[in-house]
Amino acid sequence: MFAIETRGVTKRFVRRWAVENLDLRVPTGSVFGFLGPNGAGKTTTMRMLLGLLRPDDGSIRIMGHDLAKHREVALTGVGALIESASLYEHLSGRANLELTRGLLGLPRSEIERVLDVVDMGPAANQLVRAYSMGMKQRLALARAMLGAPRLLLLDEPTNGLDPEGIVAMRKLIRELPDRIGGTVFVSSHLLTEVEQIAQDVCLLRAGRMVLEGSVHDLLNCEAQWDFGVDRAETGAAILTAAGMDAASLGQRILRLNAVEGGSEQVVQANRLLVEGGVAVCVISPRKRSLEDLYHDALSSEVIEISNEEEKHVA
Ligand SMILES: Nc1ncnc2c1ncn2[C@@H]1O[C@H](COP(=O)(O)OP(=O)(O)OP(=O)(O)O)[C@@H](O)[C@H]1O
Ligand SMILES: [Mg+2]
Repeated sequence: MFAIETRGVTKRFVRRWAVENLDLRVPTGSVFGFLGPNGAGKTTTMRMLLGLLRPDDGSIRIMGHDLAKHREVALTGVGALIESASLYEHLSGRANLELTRGLLGLPRSEIERVLDVVDMGPAANQLVRAYSMGMKQRLALARAMLGAPRLLLLDEPTNGLDPEGIVAMRKLIRELPDRIGGTVFVSSHLLTEVEQIAQDVCLLRAGRMVLEGSVHDLLNCEAQWDFGVDRAETGAAILTAAGMDAASLGQRILRLNAVEGGSEQVVQANRLLVEGGVAVCVISPRKRSLEDLYHDALSSEVIEISNEEEKHVA
């Protein structure tokens, strides 16, 4: 069972698509990164997942329950931190938590538990009005965790935090699945951030999914190999003549674009180089960053769009 499963979810605002035909599958028990630039549709999607906004089309299942048909059951045990958390500024942090605790009918001990998780300390007794942005984020996260949710939806939780706060929040998020025994769905526009905290990711652009998969698989694709050599240009010429896709990057690095699962090709390239008198001192698979993938995904999308345009012209 998936923590979140959507089929064809679509939301259209006046004259623009916010989310188009989104199929999401979020595995249980891990951190899932929901990536996309500003305006990609992250918040809109999360509001639909929380039943705050009705999709124009498609279906949503939360922990196996259909959100449209069994809303209350589906949203039981779901905690959320959505853009610009609404806190009561004239109350203390503790009093804010107390309000939600009362509404949910939870034991008093819950307050200390969540305050402890976000490490609020004595600041919990101050008025929220006097809080910094980072403290507000922590309080909002504490509130989202009341009642030990099985699923936490966090919309850009590191927004507005200072570098120290960002590091602390990331650490907290990474530990959350173990602490709550559940799933964390976290949105961000920062690729490097998601790379550090999530096991699985989905990349959204203009309301459409352009990439999804496990961070490990996406980043450890062994399609590109760098050879440390003494004469990169000669090496590139040897490999190109043998029908391989290779290029020199400066004098001492040669990059080979191998076919998928191309370790055989790497062995062959090494042999050709050595036989051709090029000294090879190191061979390493090039680890990609999410940033590379993101830009690749965006450029392939552009090609698709321009094809459509051509069709219209034709
Ligand atoms: N209530 C609304 N009415 C009209 N358009 C909206 C509304 N809410 C969002 N949009 C539009 O839908 C698109 C997606 O917005 P959304 O807030 O979901 O993006 P986002 O990925 O959360 O962006 P950000 O990173 O800036 O938070 C945007 O083009 C936005 O202008
Ligand atoms: Mg947003």
